[in-house]
Amino acid sequence: MANIALKDVRKTYGSIEVIKGVSLDIADGEMLVLVGPSGCGKSTLLRMIAGLESITAGTIEIGSRVVNNLEPSERDIAMVFQNYALYPHMTVRQNLAYGLKNRNTPKDEIDRRIADAANALEIEPFLERKPRQLSGGQRQRVAMGRAIVREPAAFLFDEPLSNLDAKLRVQMRVEIKRLQRSLATTSVYVTHDQMEAMTLADRLVVLNAGRIEQIGTPIELYEKPATTFVATFIGSPSMNLLPMEISESWKLAVNSVVPAGTVTLGVRPEDLHLAEPGSAENGIKIGVTVAAVELVGAESYVHGILPNRQTIVFRVPGRSRITVDEPLTVHADFKSLHLFDEVGKRLR
Ligand SMILES: Nc1ncnc2c1ncn2[C@@H]1O[C@H](COP(=O)(O)OP(=O)(O)OP(=O)(O)O)[C@@H](O)[C@H]1O
Ligand SMILES: [Mg+2]
Repeated sequence: MANIALKDVRKTYGSIEVIKGVSLDIADGEMLVLVGPSGCGKSTLLRMIAGLESITAGTIEIGSRVVNNLEPSERDIAMVFQNYALYPHMTVRQNLAYGLKNRNTPKDEIDRRIADAANALEIEPFLERKPRQLSGGQRQRVAMGRAIVREPAAFLFDEPLSNLDAKLRVQMRVEIKRLQRSLATTSVYVTHDQMEAMTLADRLVVLNAGRIEQIGTPIELYEKPATTFVATFIGSPSMNLLPMEISESWKLAVNSVVPAGTVTLGVRPEDLHLAEPGSAENGIKIGVTVAAVELVGAESYVHGILPNRQTIVFRVPGRSRITVDEPLTVHADFKSLHLFDEVGKRLR
């Protein structure tokens, strides 16, 4: 059990700084999820915590111990990767025991830990099999098991489920959440998957080009994104962003300090509703022409084009009878609107 603290951590490759001063406090037992576009530095940050990558500047503490100069093996952490890298010539049991044997763990202690992990992950039936005799999901469980038997101070996950098919990912996601809760082991989890990020995280970090863009609970980031970057990164389909001129009546209506001139209005696809003809709602109305309707099951995503050619997306119930080229008016309540200044910072 341990907290992890990063203080102004930087990483430079040659002359290029890829981690530009990251400070983070991860509480003991917390599940922190890192998201961000490809190449923003997620794996680099994780590898620096693990000790697989050196730190150019700053400090990393694990359990109040500065680990900057400690070998990975001395840091008491376990890492789970996308490619689970099991030893192909060893059985599942041997794979699980390997790291413990190397640490001279007594035999009965190894047996106990393997039994516990196998039970938690429901891999008992496979213990005597070789990895090639397992499905992808079963292998991923073994990879998890290898991390669990170590009983480390922290788990580091780098997109552990991205090789699995959609159904298995959901199943493993639920399992990882359950395991992490019951073990209460401090975890840092990197993912590309929105649903994984939202559902697994106690707190979510959005990383953008080597800097923390925002950190908070998933719902905080969803409801109050600090920037247009976070606003469009969290939530699917993405928040609609519309540049607009602010008038005096508008300032009164949104009831907040809004500078004169151009701002960006943000509105989530779920906050736009078809306007009732002739109704006078307290919000904005937007006239669009339907360009596409995507039926995704319980709901449909409607893509509408504004007179200025900009596209907005909104959600409607699955079997709505909306057709392409149809003119529609959508409405959003003032309460649901997000406002950003000209550099993308949240105003409201
Ligand atoms: N050994 C290296 N030498 C030089 N540049 C590197 C090295 N490793 C990573 N980089 C660069 O550092 C940046 C961050 O890479 P990183 O692997 O951390 O990204 P990521 O956020 O994990 O991306 P992805 O989502 O694609 O996995 C990238 O621009 C990458 O090209
Ligand atoms: Mg990566």
